[in-house]
Amino acid sequence: MHLRKVFSIKKILFCFLLINCLIKFTKLQLIDDEEDDSNEEETQEEKAERKSITEDSNLSVDKLIAKYGYPAEVHHVTTEDGYILTMHRIRKVGAQPFLLQHGLVDSSAGYVIMGPNISLADHNYDIWLGNARGNRYSRNHTFLDPEGEKFWEFSWHEIGVYDLPAMIDYILKITRYKRIQYIGHSQGCTTFFVMCSMKPEYNKKVIMMQAMAPAVYASETEDHPYIRAMSLYFNSLVGSAITEMFNGEFRFLCGMTEETERLCIEAVFAIVGRNWKEFNRKMFPVILGHYPAGVAAKQVKHFIQIIKSGRFAPYSYSNSKNYALYKEREPPAYNLSLITVPTYVYYSTNDLLCHPSDVEDMYKDLGRPIGKYLVPMKEFNHMDFLWALNVRRLVYSKMLQVLGKTKHHKGNAAAYIQ
Ligand SMILES: *[C@@H]1O[C@H](CO)[C@@H](O)[C@H](O)[C@H]1NC(C)=O
Ligand SMILES: *[C@@H]1O[C@H](CO)[C@@H](O)[C@H](O)[C@H]1NC(C)=O
Ligand SMILES: *[C@@H]1O[C@H](CO)[C@@H](O)[C@H](O)[C@H]1NC(C)=O
Ligand SMILES: *[C@@H]1O[C@H](CO)[C@@H](O)[C@H](O)[C@H]1NC(C)=O
Repeated sequence: MHLRKVFSIKKILFCFLLINCLIKFTKLQLIDDEEDDSNEEETQEEKAERKSITEDSNLSVDKLIAKYGYPAEVHHVTTEDGYILTMHRIRKVGAQPFLLQHGLVDSSAGYVIMGPNISLADHNYDIWLGNARGNRYSRNHTFLDPEGEKFWEFSWHEIGVYDLPAMIDYILKITRYKRIQYIGHSQGCTTFFVMCSMKPEYNKKVIMMQAMAPAVYASETEDHPYIRAMSLYFNSLVGSAITEMFNGEFRFLCGMTEETERLCIEAVFAIVGRNWKEFNRKMFPVILGHYPAGVAAKQVKHFIQIIKSGRFAPYSYSNSKNYALYKEREPPAYNLSLITVPTYVYYSTNDLLCHPSDVEDMYKDLGRPIGKYLVPMKEFNHMDFLWALNVRRLVYSKMLQVLGKTKHHKGNAAAYIQ
């Protein structure tokens, strides 16, 4: 057996830092001035806060949930093809189950690291946080070794076809409910749409899908400078032997000085869209502690394929393998009209990964779109759906309102999204 290769995260980070330095110095793109923390003595309160932030950056999701006073549970779910996934639960026995599914390079942590405040868990929901195969919580298999190559032969297609159905069936079995509520961010939407088009019987198991920054159609994303560079150089850069990516420690490099931290934040902004105004810089160490949580290289390649081809379709191999698998030269596109779950879409103008016009094109093709909401802030970016200082006011309050409107949820329904 070959030893699989893990792409050096430091190399990527180094590139980002370098590119950002270049942008900074050649284009004179000035970084917003934030008020410099003066060197005054830290108060007791600030000290406690700093300690708590350091702690949060190093706690697993279940411990984090427990720390903030919610009943946390860890569940293991085995998929049809043998992957053992971890789910985190903020338990509320008897309440409507709600599945929140994370995006690329993220984990269940994405929905909780910013701390609770007007949370879904406070609004009478039984919250389940999924973890897709390959991320740091879902690296186990009934017979494959996560250290071997075979384990990593999946893209987000398999997450949609195997992981989500397994998690949904598990939740329904444990709670004895017939249907769940669902929220996805980015790839959490991609995979949901894969599930509902490939296994339409799952449409009946979901009351409503709320899609934040759905990465589905991506024709506009091709103009993204980093993505373009990455797709052009992906094969030579990464090589086909690479199986796993982005499970690294940014913490050390980014945390070295104020300036490296600032450059790391700029590197993140370069990918997701720039928005200093909503960025909670104090929480950056917590973000670094939980991101990136690991993905298969094939997941990234699959996204690059849909960006380049402009088609939302399963993974494309060589012509001969495509013929063997799909009986066509190209994989047939997912049929979005088969997604009959009522779907509410949230998107934003400064999302460099999900362009508003792509989201609107997708919306038209959905089987049962019930509304779309463009976040009323022009700088709002791809990650602001989880990280923005005012995300509750800008997005979650709208979600609660939408939930309140479904006939299953009267009144002030809400959840521990964060
Ligand atoms: C993180 O937690 C582990 C134990 O869970 C501990 O051994 C380690 O020192 C901690 N690291 C930091 C940076 O706090
Ligand atoms: C929760 O939100 C309220 C209103 O925005 C704010 O005043 C309060 O400080 C927040 N609490 C925490 C713990 O973030
Ligand atoms: C992986 O799953 C098996 C059950 O199939 C279990 O015995 C083992 O402890 C798990 N390993 C890890 C690292 O969780
Ligand atoms: C997509 O599904 C709809 C509804 O079942 C069907 O009418 C249509 O022909 C399908 N489109 C394709 C391209 O298969």
